[in-house]
Amino acid sequence: MKILVTSALPYANGNIHLGHIAGAYLPADIYVRYQRLKNRDVIYICGTDEHGVPVTISAEQQNKTPKEIVDHYYGSIKNSFEDFGMTFDNFSRTTLPIHHRMAQDFFSKIYNKGYIYPKEIKQYYCPRCNRFLPDRYITGKCPRCGVDGAKGDQCDSCSRWLEPFELVEPKCLICGEVPQKRRTKHWYFKLSAFGDKLDEWIAAKTNWKEHVLSFVKGWLREGLQDRPITRDMSWGVPVPLDQANGKVLYVWFDAPIGYISSTMEWAERKGDPDLWKEYWLSKDTKMIHFLGKDNIVFHALIWPAMLMAYGDYVLPSDIPANQFLNLEGDKFSTSKNYAIWLPDYLRDFKADSLRYALTRNAPEARDTDFTWRDFQAWHNNELADNLGNFVNRSLTFIKKYYGSSVPTASTFAENDNRMLDILHKAPAGIGEKLEQFEFKNGLREVMKMSQEANRYFDHGEPWVTRKTNPLICERTMYVCMKIVTSLSVLIEPFLPFTAAKMKKMINFIPQQWDAISAPDVAPIIGDTEILFQKIDDKVIEIQVSKLKKREISIEEFGKVVLKTGKILEAEIVEGSDNLIKCTVEIGDTQRQIVAGIGKEYKAQELIGKSVIVVENLKPAKVRGVLSNGMLLAADTKEGIVLLTTDKPVASGEIVR
Ligand code: 2FM
Ligand code: ZN
Repeated sequence: MKILVTSALPYANGNIHLGHIAGAYLPADIYVRYQRLKNRDVIYICGTDEHGVPVTISAEQQNKTPKEIVDHYYGSIKNSFEDFGMTFDNFSRTTLPIHHRMAQDFFSKIYNKGYIYPKEIKQYYCPRCNRFLPDRYITGKCPRCGVDGAKGDQCDSCSRWLEPFELVEPKCLICGEVPQKRRTKHWYFKLSAFGDKLDEWIAAKTNWKEHVLSFVKGWLREGLQDRPITRDMSWGVPVPLDQANGKVLYVWFDAPIGYISSTMEWAERKGDPDLWKEYWLSKDTKMIHFLGKDNIVFHALIWPAMLMAYGDYVLPSDIPANQFLNLEGDKFSTSKNYAIWLPDYLRDFKADSLRYALTRNAPEARDTDFTWRDFQAWHNNELADNLGNFVNRSLTFIKKYYGSSVPTASTFAENDNRMLDILHKAPAGIGEKLEQFEFKNGLREVMKMSQEANRYFDHGEPWVTRKTNPLICERTMYVCMKIVTSLSVLIEPFLPFTAAKMKKMINFIPQQWDAISAPDVAPIIGDTEILFQKIDDKVIEIQVSKLKKREISIEEFGKVVLKTGKILEAEIVEGSDNLIKCTVEIGDTQRQIVAGIGKEYKAQELIGKSVIVVENLKPAKVRGVLSNGMLLAADTKEGIVLLTTDKPVASGEIVR
């Protein structure tokens, strides 16, 4: 059997945020890494979705060409995915010629089979821009909730699906002109012809996630309508028909075909251009689409209907869509910039801490909420105190008392056997969860095993038996090393960077998933390092304050007392590499403020600088050192830049 895994192609009009990752990307990567460890024939396909109104609107807003936009975000998305540990076999782009060819071929073939037909319709036309307006180019008031700024296809406020003509007081998004209704021709996909086939197909998918099935069945019950698949734009895949001059394929028609063209590109890269067919043209392929719930209808109904119309190709075997992740109690919103962007996250923290938090809290069956406090607590209490602690105490013990060579044992007592039994069952138990897309439960089991291992260590008291009964001590440490070895594989799908560090520390002998039920342990361990450094409160507070949650009134802003200050003394906080303790003069008073700027500034060069201080911030301890206030600084790609005044100003002046 072959496994073809995809994640929804992200639009190349902005960066990836945590909501995207939790929905469509991280679970897929976990799944694929696991399948590879099982030695299965799996490929993981993705790329950027570079057409459509989301791209052209971003381009217009930023005064750039669509091409400039997609070139920029393709690179940025690809890089941050890599830094996050995503392991696509191919990450393509829908603007490549190979994709345009494939999408046009797809259109032509189903057109020739009679599944695409032209239809005269009325559509909004902007007389000032001289163009027909695609759905999202029209805004107005939502007919349901009355909110202004609803788009021609959906109201973001109440989530209602709309037709452009339903909007109250419609306006052209670009120039604000009132649009006119004019006649034009578009091409429709005969989705209605696939109702019965889809019914039957879905009826057999009894093991799909419940929320996916109920959503899909709801659509089927309402009856499927033919859908226009062409748009009046110049950016996109040109419709391969002479009569369709100036029109392009609707982005949701060409995007899923990107799964095929990206696989073709992968095969070309491998030097075996026909290899893609072994996946797409075989009945023996398990094709799995990972995505967020907003994409279910496209993948579970329209795309399978397109594939049925085309013939030949494999149909999806599962669509383990996730629900939404919220952020500190509110929806992620790109337009309001209410989000945590992946590149920003990665500048401040390690990938694995986020992989952990997003899996532990995965929106698998219902919406969940990301909070920075949970993130910190899970990192500190679970990654550091549970997993990190077990690995660390085992390795340092062996290093210290056995000169880094791992003791062996051949007879075991009941408590050892109990632990070995847990170890023995772990790969199959965790594997079963992952096969069923229960990533949260899979991770929980890994962490449970680590917790058991800590208990085993505690009860074994090797620090006592080392002196009282060396044989028992050796036995304990031998079992501990088996657990560390096993954990370094079981944790890999979830925390690949941590797994790599662990493997390096233990001189890991390569073993597949099933073999680690009774792992081979290397005789000597290497250098050790702490796996997870704790995350301070202060660091988290900064992240919380970065979230531009909502607009604030001038009165609210007035609550923040900003004043000019002068740095009188500065020194690095002992035991830290970036915290500087400053004595700051604010008018007649002096106070101590700790700032995380030690990577960018030497303590010495800060002395005498004029700075801007938040005077009425609640005092807090940072690494045990009191900080009473905060220095303002810009958080840039190149690092922190301290804010100072344009001209010399006495300290203690009000800033507003
Ligand atoms: O919602 C989105 O971000 C789309 N770009 C997903 C496309 S998935 C696939 F069809 F390509
Ligand atoms: Zn206009």
